[in-house]
Amino acid sequence: MMRTRPLKVALLGCGVVGSEVARIMTTHADDLTARIGAPVELAGVAVRRPSKAREGIDPALITTDAMALVKRGDIDVVVEVIGGIEPARALITTAFEHGASVVSANKALLAKDGAALHAAAQEHGRDLYYEAAVAGAIPLVRPLRESLAGDKVNRILGIVNGTTNFILDKMDTTGAGYSEALDEATALGYAEADPTADVEGFDAAAKAAILAGIAFHTRVRLDDVHREGLTEVTAADIASAKRMGCTVKLLAICERAADGKSVTARVHPAMIPLSHPLASVREAYNAVFVEADAAGQLMFYGPGAGGSPTASAVLGDLVAVCRNTLGGATGPGESAYTRLPVSPMGDVITRYHISLDVADKPGVLAQVATVFAEQGVSIDTVRQQGRQDGGGEASLVVVTHRAPDAALSGTVEALRKLDTVRGVASIMRVEGE
Ligand code: HSE
Repeated sequence: MMRTRPLKVALLGCGVVGSEVARIMTTHADDLTARIGAPVELAGVAVRRPSKAREGIDPALITTDAMALVKRGDIDVVVEVIGGIEPARALITTAFEHGASVVSANKALLAKDGAALHAAAQEHGRDLYYEAAVAGAIPLVRPLRESLAGDKVNRILGIVNGTTNFILDKMDTTGAGYSEALDEATALGYAEADPTADVEGFDAAAKAAILAGIAFHTRVRLDDVHREGLTEVTAADIASAKRMGCTVKLLAICERAADGKSVTARVHPAMIPLSHPLASVREAYNAVFVEADAAGQLMFYGPGAGGSPTASAVLGDLVAVCRNTLGGATGPGESAYTRLPVSPMGDVITRYHISLDVADKPGVLAQVATVFAEQGVSIDTVRQQGRQDGGGEASLVVVTHRAPDAALSGTVEALRKLDTVRGVASIMRVEGE
């Protein structure tokens, strides 16, 4: 039965994503009505600059008073695409208090305060959906929250930031250095004028926190995620990865500990073998590799940013929330029953690729090997190359077996103290094997 009274939607933010949401709501109105079982009406659009021309949006819907809009009382769904912590947080909680469900694309807010938002949604019997907060158009939150709800996810390995993947891909394919590749990403509009959130890994860390929380049914906040950006990655690191049959990616890695008693979440550059499916993720694409007990290995791939892809995820949530509203139901809320603690980076089991400049004389290799042994770190391969410059130095590349990150970083610190080690040229973790 088709309901004729429309479901009312308040749109908070009408930038790149919001304007696409409004456009699709208009152009696909008949299909959305048929799929939901009732018409969906854009009831108000809160913006910062009301004078800006907005094609296809009735000017009468535009307001600068977002708070008054969410307090109206007749709004069924608030779509929040303004981002940032405040006023988004206050608007979302007020929306719940006034009877609306919320669709949000706000990764920073969800990673910081997801538990409180979920609690507010539950208290008021409303939905909180946020597919667009992680990896744009790629269905990931819903598959983890719903499709895999009967399985046990053990590991997530993802490329969840398109800007940094573009930069690393350019470095890999052209041999460019980081700055040159960043300049190209900026010129092409992939990197923002201030690229900090992307290149320092904050954006990916927020997504890692959200994914880890959902996957392991526990609470993981942004501060729990170990984060390293890619600003230190050099052309030499990429060349070294190539020699090992690897490429470098900025990975978000969420893992359940082997004993099942804790989880970890981290973002850092890592070498992965070219044979790994994530190695073939090029340009600004995102991909997330999920390992679960029963499902085995799954990979989700697609555009992780941009107005239309992100709007696609928002619209999918909007349809789901509207269907729930009509059915008098709510979708899944927060599932944090395992209460698994988040372990520090030192507990993570990984491998290091370490490139050292050493004195080229008898006994140096033995000295270096002793440091690894003292830290309980087993060496997998060693490659030494004498320099032709007559300076009595050699490059030593050591790849370790798997060991706790604390032991690996302790090894590097001890190596730095050796007189015969002139410098640590690069350190990178090796993942995906
Ligand atoms: N800036 C992000 C990226 C998109 O480059 O993937 C929004 O999270």
